[in-house]
Amino acid sequence: MSGHGTPIPMTSTACGPLSGTAEVPGDKSISHRSLILGAMAVGETKITGLLEGEDVIDTAKAMRAFGAEVVQHGPGSWSVFGVGVGGFAEPGNVIDCGNSGTGVRLIMGSMATSPITATFTGDASLNKRPMARVTDPLALFGAQSVGRKGGRLPMTIVGAADPVPVRYVVPVPSAQVKSAVLLAGLNAPGETVVIEKEATRDHTERMLAGFGAEITVEETDEGRVITLTGRPELKPQTIAVPRDPSSAAFPVCAALIVPGSDVLVPGIGLNPTRAGLFTTLREMGADLTYENERVEGGEPVADLRARFSPNMKGIDVPPERAASMIDEYPVLSVVAANASGVTMMRGVKELRVKESDRIDAMAVGLRACGVEVEEGEDWWSVTGHGPGSIEGGATCESHLDHRIAMSFLVAGMASEKPVSVDDGSPIATSFPIFESLMAQLGAQVTRTAG
Ligand code: S3P
Repeated sequence: MSGHGTPIPMTSTACGPLSGTAEVPGDKSISHRSLILGAMAVGETKITGLLEGEDVIDTAKAMRAFGAEVVQHGPGSWSVFGVGVGGFAEPGNVIDCGNSGTGVRLIMGSMATSPITATFTGDASLNKRPMARVTDPLALFGAQSVGRKGGRLPMTIVGAADPVPVRYVVPVPSAQVKSAVLLAGLNAPGETVVIEKEATRDHTERMLAGFGAEITVEETDEGRVITLTGRPELKPQTIAVPRDPSSAAFPVCAALIVPGSDVLVPGIGLNPTRAGLFTTLREMGADLTYENERVEGGEPVADLRARFSPNMKGIDVPPERAASMIDEYPVLSVVAANASGVTMMRGVKELRVKESDRIDAMAVGLRACGVEVEEGEDWWSVTGHGPGSIEGGATCESHLDHRIAMSFLVAGMASEKPVSVDDGSPIATSFPIFESLMAQLGAQVTRTAG
């Protein structure tokens, strides 16, 4: 089992206005998929803007273990020499996906219809997370799996030697599950059909089409029906990864709550299946504008401009928006604590099975900082008392969860007393330049003695 090594305690203190340009790293979801689909194409896929966070690096290592050549040319610039659909070799060792649920679930899908066996593990957070949501549909293709109790990692997958295509209704709103099934479907003969009742991020569908797979998406009464024809020859691509809206969320939310701030976050992917946070913030009264809107690599992109917003109000976040902002609820709760009134977040059960139980992690930490939080299995609410009203003065546990660590550090930027996290090391999984970038904007985040 991998770990994160020595914890890095960090403290964030109220700061003056944040200003300047925040160039956040490449999109994590698209980075994982670029490497995996590149490995399943025949020939050289060229990638620029790849996120070089630990999660994605673990996926790059895994693709090498399955036989693809993966080469870094310079910062963010990579090539993958793929082995083709069905061309994966059996890894000689255990595949360690570190902290990454996306990495492990998508890779399991990509190998499950090849006649090879692979064993997967991860860090203490990943090894607690449910994998049956992926291994159940993979079993329908003919793959077998043996893991720990409750379908936990470490887990071995024996890929199907004679896979059959499947028709699968995804029981939870999860792009990871949908994507695992589609990637498995690539090496099954005939048509694999995946139906999702609620739309989740659609990067896999868009990228499969870009790589030349035959894939259709139909909106029906049953939901989104995705039909993929198996055994295509995927054609290598040149991919410019857009910057990650989930990372942009941190400088954007910080600027909204720190008095006097004005921050530009350029080149952010605004795929509607990802942009729910920004819609929500605007509904709350945030001074958040989209500048220079354009389309890049088939994805809508804009420069986001966020300014201090003293008059934000709590709102009811529509549950049907949950999937499009699922990773952003922790930092939204920090903004909610700086708005006036109650922000109600419903339909968010999935938050309990992320890198941590994100409702619980935020509720405990925010309460320790003097914020009123209520929660149920599928909902939570935060009561805000306007800008600068978080008392702070607490050390919050990050539970090996990058987004929890960054959310509390953003909270400290506008709190009366500093806010600390016990361990900021997981930030490196998705946003390795978080500290330097926030410092450059004027934030005061320091590493503190343990
Ligand atoms: C992701 C999907 C989401 C999200 C994760 C990335 C993806 O997970 O939370 O950070 O890249 O497919 P679920 O699919 O489990 O909701």
